[in-house]
Amino acid sequence: MARNDLRIFTGNANPQLAEAIARELGISVGRMVVSRFSDGEIQVKVEESARGMDAFIIQPTCCPVNETLMELLIMCDAFKRASARRITCVMPYYGYARQDKKVKPREPVTARLVANLLTHAGANRILTVDLHAEQIQGFFDMPVDHLPAGPIIADYLRKSGLSDADLVVVSPDVGGVARARALAEQLGAPIAIIAKRRPEPNKSEIMEIIGDVDGKVAVMIDDIIDTAGSIVNGAVALKERGARQVYACCTHPIFSGSASERLCNSVFEEVIVTDTIPLGPWCGKTKITVLSVAPMLADAIARINEDRSVSQLFEEYL
Ligand code: R5P
Repeated sequence: MARNDLRIFTGNANPQLAEAIARELGISVGRMVVSRFSDGEIQVKVEESARGMDAFIIQPTCCPVNETLMELLIMCDAFKRASARRITCVMPYYGYARQDKKVKPREPVTARLVANLLTHAGANRILTVDLHAEQIQGFFDMPVDHLPAGPIIADYLRKSGLSDADLVVVSPDVGGVARARALAEQLGAPIAIIAKRRPEPNKSEIMEIIGDVDGKVAVMIDDIIDTAGSIVNGAVALKERGARQVYACCTHPIFSGSASERLCNSVFEEVIVTDTIPLGPWCGKTKITVLSVAPMLADAIARINEDRSVSQLFEEYL
């Protein structure tokens, strides 16, 4: 039973998701206005008392990322100054995560910079889904609850009858092996790995496929589909190596540029995504299925509010 100090708020990043989470919790979204001054500066007004509140701000830092991030920082500042007891940033998608280390000299580490900004703005806790890299949790000196969308995807694939096929779960790059292995374990399938390289940002080239895909139904799993270059090229390579059918799964459907057209014109049987970020005009296109993370996030929020275990939540999804 959630305590009555629990309140949900949202900026402009994904209000539909905030509404869905609030519905799951049986409460309404808190009263707050996040608007713009005439020069474009962000204006936040919390229109109810926040004193002693356990405030959960639902705000994926998705496109337009600089706007959604700045809204989140200013909302945190508002709740801190209004004496909220605890401020949890619910970031179903953590933007700027792909620059999580220096690969070449003089590069920034934006994932750490965002963590520093949130800390200084007054966040006390982070709740997020499928960080680009697990180690980003360590960029924070506060609790980070990191939820996987894999169990939701596995549940959907099982209910679609796909787990009975001769499956192989495929990671589209070496960095995603842990994610692919977790899904493979849930589906009782082996894994394969695509070794790709990026000659430049947002371009990918397939180098090799490790593992047996011949005659199998391949389920590709990635955290992000942005331009769809990695996953579409990977699917072509899997077909060339004899995969019978290929499915694409991802948590965060950024779908920049013409990604949704590329996906719909690709060899994929189906593209399975979640609603961590708002659904674009592509929503409803054939081939694309959207699964909601709202019940999982609502459950996690209630557990955090009641000081109950968050990890036990996965027993329900596995
Ligand atoms: C990269 O390592 C990520 O996990 C995704 O594979 C990548 O961001 C997808 O980008 P795109 O769709 O533009 O190839």
